[in-house]
Amino acid sequence: MKLLITGGAGFIGSAVIRHIINNTKDEVVNLDKLTYAGNLESLSEVSGSERYAFEQVDICNRAEVDRVLAQHQPGAIMHLAAESHVDRSIDGPADFIETNIVGTYTLLEATRQYWQALEGDRKNDFRFHHISTDEVYGDLEGTSDLFTENTPYAPSSPYSASKASSDHLARAWHRTYGLPVLVTNCSNNYGPYHFPEKLIPLVILNALENKPLPVYGKGDQIRDWLYVEDHARALYRVVTDGKPGETYNIGGHNEKQNIEVVQTICDILQELRPQQTTYRDLITHVKDRPGHDLRYAIDAGKIQRELGWSPDETFETGIRKTVEWYLNNLDWCQRVQDGSYQRERLGAGV
Ligand SMILES: NC(=O)c1ccc[n+]([C@@H]2O[C@H](COP(=O)([O-])OP(=O)(O)OC[C@H]3O[C@@H](n4cnc5c(N)ncnc54)[C@H](O)[C@@H]3O)[C@@H](O)[C@H]2O)c1
Repeated sequence: MKLLITGGAGFIGSAVIRHIINNTKDEVVNLDKLTYAGNLESLSEVSGSERYAFEQVDICNRAEVDRVLAQHQPGAIMHLAAESHVDRSIDGPADFIETNIVGTYTLLEATRQYWQALEGDRKNDFRFHHISTDEVYGDLEGTSDLFTENTPYAPSSPYSASKASSDHLARAWHRTYGLPVLVTNCSNNYGPYHFPEKLIPLVILNALENKPLPVYGKGDQIRDWLYVEDHARALYRVVTDGKPGETYNIGGHNEKQNIEVVQTICDILQELRPQQTTYRDLITHVKDRPGHDLRYAIDAGKIQRELGWSPDETFETGIRKTVEWYLNNLDWCQRVQDGSYQRERLGAGV
């Protein structure tokens, strides 16, 4: 199979591509605009493969998306390209509306035209997999409920509202046009190659530089954490074995308060890089983000029952692997922090 993966230079997309190239015989075309969040260095271990190709394309550019589809003739599309950082969506929602909503619409329309022209098994076997977040379901504050595939949408931030819109578009293209769409909604991911603006890498890197570790409010927000490589395996399972028209929730059964996450990282660092003052002393409570949801938690029973997927990592094993990865890959972090990962790709003309 040849898979077209949008957003393949991002955190989760690059994990999906590494998983596919390393563990299957499939071919991958990575379609990515390379925003600040796109980093081709996250693909260095697989980009030399003859089964990998890269196209620097914006999903909002219909003519270019049409060209890529016609040229590469994929058997499935995994759509991960998005603006993904909640804080950025509060400071400037425009890019989120453009990429997450208009971009998804553009990709769906280009895909519909491409798919309708396919014939026989190529048409029957084609899949469009739309990758989304549990944040579309809103806040579980005050209940012990879990998000199921039937939980009504109630997004709180410009980010989650734009993702909710894109989920509705993807499902409508299935219902109205018969496009074989699959949707997945996943909880918070963590692991290697995570951009250092997000909580876990930010805390690890700030701690190593003895900088404050910012925690929103009391740090009592609960998220269900999933190791990114478990997510990549789940996504591949869904695109290959999932039923068109279905939604699958993906989660790690790891509900943790943000403050617990930060304290756990501090304790692992204390063990691996001991210092006299404790890393926990660096924890600094900062003013909470507006509209901050208190709790997200996923019921991942359906994907386990129907597709046989469950996570390999517990939070304890995954977070230790993650801290160790950052300690062993400080050069990757350095090149993100000083911007050289972007300068060199411009210089190389990719
Ligand atoms: N990170 C999480 O915890 C999480 C959890 C659940 C779902 N998701 C979803 O998974 C997907 C990937 O998330 P991520 O954390 O890897 O994001 P990311 O921000 O790390 O990567 C996004 C990628 O998309 C690319 N991109 C952005 N705009 C584009 C455009 N207009 N055209 C083409 N490419 C574009 C960027 O260059 C980047 O490579 C997103 O759709 C996100 O909503 C993320």
